[in-house]
Formats: sequence, structure tokens, C-alpha cells
Amino acid sequence: MSKVISEDIERVLISEDEIQARCKELAGQIEADYEEKRIVPIVIGLLKGSVPFMAELIKYFRHPIEIDFMSVSSYSGSESIGDVKINKDTDLSVKGKNVLIVEDIVDTGRTIREVRRLLENKGANDVRIVSLLDKPDRRVVDIEADYVGFTVPNEFVVGYGLDFNQCYRNLPYIGVLKEEAYR
Ligand code: IMP
Repeated sequence: MSKVISEDIERVLISEDEIQARCKELAGQIEADYEEKRIVPIVIGLLKGSVPFMAELIKYFRHPIEIDFMSVSSYSGSESIGDVKINKDTDLSVKGKNVLIVEDIVDTGRTIREVRRLLENKGANDVRIVSLLDKPDRRVVDIEADYVGFTVPNEFVVGYGLDFNQCYRNLPYIGVLKEEAYR
């Protein structure tokens, strides 16, 4: 039998209860902001890290939304690399629409900058970003998410969608790995 992934966690930074409560708050805030415009937003999750966060967040929207996913790659192991590649674009027409990008973490900021630029170039009316986590100490481009769940220190984190070498995404909380888990 393979290992139990929670045994690789040194400490929990953000619990499942805290994430759920914050998702509820964020959804309320986002809906209140969108409501003035009365346009059904397209909520686009960035695969794969946003999946648990997006699933939790959208449960609390009370008004209609459309959902879709995009896949972009910019990351290998635990260091961010320069270029952002679009592996799967949105299937929906975003022209004239309000788009909410859902991301797991804003680190250097390159990914959301490129995705936002792409959606704006396709004629989206308004592009906003909600990110479960923000790691401002690592930013190399001048961009901020419009809505942030939690600000985290400059440490590599896993769980709730975030991976290390494709593992740990299914942990129901955000944690820091034990040193030996990187070997
Ligand atoms: P950025 O383009 O540098 O902002 O990187 C964004 C992507 O890097 C995120 O969507 C994550 O997939 C990945 N990433 C950044 N920091 C972490 C981390 O601490 N743990 C796991 N993945 C991370």
C-alpha cells in the first residue's frame, strides 16, 4: 500500500473550516460587486490547482454563473519558470462578458497576468481574479488578485489543490511539507 499523504505534512497553515468560511465570505463579496452590473459572470478555473477552491466557492453564489476551465503551465517542481503556456483555452465566448478567473495561488504573478491579458484580448468586458492564496513576497510582475482568501508567507505550500510534483492536491487543508518529503 502506498503512503498516507497527511504524514508528509509538517504543519497545517490553514484548516478546512477556515477555508470554507472564507469561501462563503468571498462569494458574498464577489456577488455583491457583480450584482450592480447584472451580467452573468463566467467563472474560469485554472487547472488543476483551482479545482477544490472553485468547487467550494461556487456553492455560495446565489445567482446564475457559467463555469469553464483553462489549463496553463508555468510551474515545474517548486520553482516558477518564465513562460506561461496555454494548454487548454476556454470553450466559451467571453466577448462582452464579465470573467472571474479562479486561481489557487498568486506567486510571481506571471500566470494570472498572462491569462488576464488573453481574456482581455478576446474582448472580455471585465476580468477579475480571485485567488485562494497570495504570496506577495514572491511577486515579480505588478499584478494583484481582486479577491484573496489568505495571504501566506514565502514558503512552499501544498493541499487544497496545490501540489508538489502532482501530489497532495487532495489534502483538505493548506500545509507545509516535511523536509524529507522533497527527497
Ligand atoms: P505564478 O505564475 O508564479 O504566480 O505561479 C502560479 C502557479 O504556481 C500556481 O498556480 C501554482 O500552481 C504554482 N505555485 C506557486 N507557489 C506554489 C506553492 O507554494 N505551492 C504549490 N504550487 C505553487
